[in-house]
Amino acid sequence: MLELLDRLPPDPILGLMAAFRADSDPRKVDLGVGVYRDDAGETPVMQAVRQAEQALLARQTTKSYVSAVGNAGFNAAMERLVMGEEHPALGAGRLRTIQAPGGCGALRLGAELIRAAAPEAVVHVSTPTWANHVPLLSNCGLRLERYPYFDSATGGVAFDAMTGALDRLPPRSVVLLHASCHNPTGADLEDGQWRELLALMRRRSLLPFIDIAYQGLGGGVAEDAYGPRLLCAELPEVLVAVSCSKNFGLYRERTGALHVLSATPGAADAALSQLARIARGLYSMPPDHGAAIVHAILTDERLRRSWAGELDSMRLRIQQLRAAAVQRLAATCPRRDFGFIARQRGMFSYLGVEPHAVRELRERHHVYMLDDGRINIAGLARDNIGYFAEAVGKVVR
Ligand SMILES: Cc1ncc(COP(=O)(O)O)c(C=O)c1O
Repeated sequence: MLELLDRLPPDPILGLMAAFRADSDPRKVDLGVGVYRDDAGETPVMQAVRQAEQALLARQTTKSYVSAVGNAGFNAAMERLVMGEEHPALGAGRLRTIQAPGGCGALRLGAELIRAAAPEAVVHVSTPTWANHVPLLSNCGLRLERYPYFDSATGGVAFDAMTGALDRLPPRSVVLLHASCHNPTGADLEDGQWRELLALMRRRSLLPFIDIAYQGLGGGVAEDAYGPRLLCAELPEVLVAVSCSKNFGLYRERTGALHVLSATPGAADAALSQLARIARGLYSMPPDHGAAIVHAILTDERLRRSWAGELDSMRLRIQQLRAAAVQRLAATCPRRDFGFIARQRGMFSYLGVEPHAVRELRERHHVYMLDDGRINIAGLARDNIGYFAEAVGKVVR
């Protein structure tokens, strides 16, 4: 039976990673894969994670099952991290949380919940959006459509085009939004634009589904959660998919959560019961280790301070690299304005160069980025940023 299966092409990012590994040139620069890197090019285990993990292993007496909704302490701590300590949704009894296998697991759970509630619902994603949003949101059978988002002329958000399109959607349409550090463009909504979106969502009865995968890596922990906090304070229903992969560096531990805000406490209980059933049918229970680490960090003052400090320095490093990249590129490409890189946030930017330039950068200069020109800013470092800017100067005409 399995002989009938077609062989699929490899994922382009995996192909890019393999090509980078096979490149023996010592000057090679990896701006492809979306993980945070320090100045030595490493993706380190955060200090607080290491300490929490050691204490956890010493203390743990069983590996018995937890539950389909995961670690209750983790879920409560994540609600406070994402929403803030004083958020009205916490007191109103309308917010429920299920632990998920990473942000991807949370996105898939959210999509399945929407399908259970309204199989005909259409999910609208930004143009462009993170490539994996497409299978995560549509493999359960939901239809996906796109709304305009990125303005390549300014490197910012095409807000009028975006709101113009959203304003024409029928009620009960689902709108996938990136809370901050938009992947792949780095172009984020300003606070005032979130407020305008809130009014639009309310007026048109749209359901926001917010993906927050980079909290703390854009403008700060509270700043990056402005959108989800605002919408959850004001709207009857919101879904928020959270990833701890980047801001806790827990990529392979598959740690995340889905928050669901419902109109009433009864509806919230029903939604959680549905989510538990969905999780049982997909993977039964989420992995415990990463969630236990995050719970330990967020509920211990010393570990939390250490984590927040390290996260601050990661964010600062990205901001400094953005400023340095603009400066270097101004010198090597005087006819192009790369100033947008410093106005964008998070790990990613579109470099905005033509496909032939992306190819030449890879083949002639050993600088690797995605085919669409997305670069991971954190892949730059003190000792390669000059080389990177010179290489771009050679291929940009
Ligand atoms: C926009 C976005 N959402 C969600 C995720 C989910 O990541 P994970 O499943 O590793 O937590 C990522 C990871 O790259 C992302 O970029």
